[in-house]
Formats: sequence, C-alpha cells, structure tokens
Amino acid sequence: MPLHKTIQINENTTAYFWHITEDVTSLFRAVSLKDTSLFRLEGMKSEAHQKGFLAVRMLLQHLGYTDYDLHYDESGKPHLRPETVSWKLEENPSPKHISISHSHEFSCICVSTELMGIDMEKCKEKTLKIAPRFLEMKHLENLSTPDKIAKATVIWGVKESIFKIKNEVGISFPEHIFEDEFNLKDGKCSANLHFNNQIENFNIQFYNVEEYIFVCAFPKK
Ligand SMILES: CC(C)(COP(=O)(O)OP(=O)(O)OC[C@H]1O[C@@H](n2cnc3c(N)ncnc32)[C@H](O)[C@@H]1OP(=O)(O)O)[C@@H](O)C(=O)NCCC(=O)NCCS
Repeated sequence: MPLHKTIQINENTTAYFWHITEDVTSLFRAVSLKDTSLFRLEGMKSEAHQKGFLAVRMLLQHLGYTDYDLHYDESGKPHLRPETVSWKLEENPSPKHISISHSHEFSCICVSTELMGIDMEKCKEKTLKIAPRFLEMKHLENLSTPDKIAKATVIWGVKESIFKIKNEVGISFPEHIFEDEFNLKDGKCSANLHFNNQIENFNIQFYNVEEYIFVCAFPKK
C-alpha cells in the first residue's frame, strides 16, 4: 500500500501516514537498511513491530530520505542527520525535526522546522479502563462512551507527544503533565508540563485518522 494520507499541520509541519497492508518480506525488499537497523529489526519479537519499523522506512523513502538519514540518541529519540535535512523536501524545504509513531496497521512520521512530538493510538475500550491512571476524570464527564474513549485516547496521545518532545527521565503522565479542558470537536487543546520546578506550556492539534487518533504537540512560543 502506498502512502495513505498526509496532514499539513501548519506551514512548517507535515505528517505522513502509511497503512501497512504488505507482509514483512515485501516491506523488507522495498527498503535499504543500515547495519544498526538490520540488527534492531532482527531483534524484534513480533512481526507487527517489524512491519511498523519497516513502514517508517517506506515513509522516509517516500520523502526522499533513507534509513541512513535517521539516527537515534541514547534514549531512542529519532533525529534527522543535519547534513541531509536541507534539500530533500520540496513542500517542506528544511525540516530539522522528526517524530515517529506506530499503532497496529499504521505508521506515521512528522517532519518540521519546529520542535514537535507526535503520537498515534487506536481508539479502544482499554484506554478508557485505564483512564483514571493518567487523566483527570472530570474531563470525561457527560460524554457518550465512544466520545469518552476518543477523548481519553487524545489525552494519552497528548502526554506521549509531550514526552517525546521533552525526552526526560522521570516525567510521569499523571503527576507532571496536565491537560486543559477541551472539546473533542475543536481538534485542538493545550497542556502543561510541571517538571523540575518549571512549568512549560504546549499547543496540541489532534485528528481522526480512520479509527485512530493522531496527536501533534508543539511547545508554546
Ligand atoms: C518511548 C515512548 C514515548 C514510545 O511511545 P509509544 O506510544 O509506546 O510508541 P510509538 O509507536 O508512539 O512511538 C515509538 C517511537 O517513538 C520514538 N521514541 C522512542 N523513544 C523516544 C524518546 N525518548 N523521545 C522521543 N521519541 C522517542 C521512536 O522513534 C519510536 O519508534 P522507532 O524506534 O521505531 O523509530 C513510550 O514508550 C514511553 O516511554 N513513554 C513515556 C513513559 C511513560 O511515562 N509511560 C506511561 C506512564 S503512565
């Protein structure tokens, strides 16, 4: 399956989605991987994980990058190599930042000149069951069950996205990241990180992609 869709989040930021319908072998044959990625791929226990990882490389290739343009820091955060970021994307000429997420049969990457973090999650009842562990339950009051599931999934994605921006050991979703009240239909919200005696604010945009929620967070300027 080729690229499923793109979302232009703002003038500096685009997200790309791959709907994984291929088997591992077809994906593997379609990408070229550096040794460290081959090693990682071989160590993955599930085919689903392998497919998600390879689909990210399909997205990179779609944008004119390869696996060689991507590297990870010691915490697992992905970065684009600085020497390759300036010329590859016509619609987004110098993206400095990349964020990656996979969920079931989708992989997505987001590239931007701005610092951002993304998360994609399938809407499922389990997220609602564990909601008291990571969100303020007053934010789910007076909603239908499907809307409660969707809103809990957005809030989970908000916290994952902010974590991916900050990438700091010790950040706890319930203790340090707080979502402001929002309406699902608005497609945007804000949240705050209280950590290390500082408060940082984030703007969030979120979207439905099939039966998934896609979230993109930006530090407030
Ligand atoms: C690392 C983490 C952010 C991954 O998120 P996830 O929803 O499990 O998985 P996703 O598919 O959305 O994201 C995985 C991608 O995130 C990226 N990633 C991994 N570690 C990262 C980090 N420290 N910072 C930023 N991005 C990171 C990677 O690109 C990874 O994919 P890849 O290795 O195939 O390239 C998550 O597992 C985590 O550690 N969260 C914070 C811990 C926490 O507090 N959890 C629950 C508290 S209630």
